[in-house]
Amino acid sequence: MSANRIAVMASGKGSNLKAILQAAERGECPVNVQLVISDKADAPALKVAKDAGVADVLFLNPKEYPDRAAFDAACAEAIEQAGCQWIVLAGYMRILSGEFIARFRNCIINIHPALLPSFPGAHAVRDALAYGAKITGVTVHLVDEVVDGGPILAQFSVPVQSDDTEESLHNRIHAAEHQLYPEILKRMIEGKFSIEDRRAVWKET
Ligand code: GRF
Repeated sequence: MSANRIAVMASGKGSNLKAILQAAERGECPVNVQLVISDKADAPALKVAKDAGVADVLFLNPKEYPDRAAFDAACAEAIEQAGCQWIVLAGYMRILSGEFIARFRNCIINIHPALLPSFPGAHAVRDALAYGAKITGVTVHLVDEVVDGGPILAQFSVPVQSDDTEESLHNRIHAAEHQLYPEILKRMIEGKFSIEDRRAVWKET
């Protein structure tokens, strides 16, 4: 198992995956994206991965498995076979089973388009806008059994503008994500944090 081999799980567009691949290509993020898994056959993220020459690009169909745990076990097998130490969720829209989370405890990282614990869930940008928040942002966090509730690694604020639509706000949040995710991955891979209670404590560099 190599310390910088990562598996990315993505269900959608794959712009965060692309940002990570490009940062790695520029030498700014010391990761080797060895495996990309999607649960959606038509996810553009699969094309992003193939175009970038990712070694293993895999679509696994949840409908072919009896339950969530069985599907996640198949993903886990692929991740272990590929020798990946970190699992990076980038727009992965399935809730992970407890077994999967326990198997990769503190090695699964997610990016969420809001300042958690505000606006968890699948419609964070819409929810922040509807609530009338003036500042929202991006959270990078470890994944535990509480959906969008694991220890926070980093956050980045994004002001809401009075004429924002969900799309315009999500575009600015995406831009922040593309900067933050590779940076945090780099720091993680370099082993620069520990978890104390539920707080991520970064070591000085
Ligand atoms: C991002 O906004 C991320 O925060 C959320 O899903 C979106 C994925 O976008 N979890 P993309 O597929 O990386 O473009």
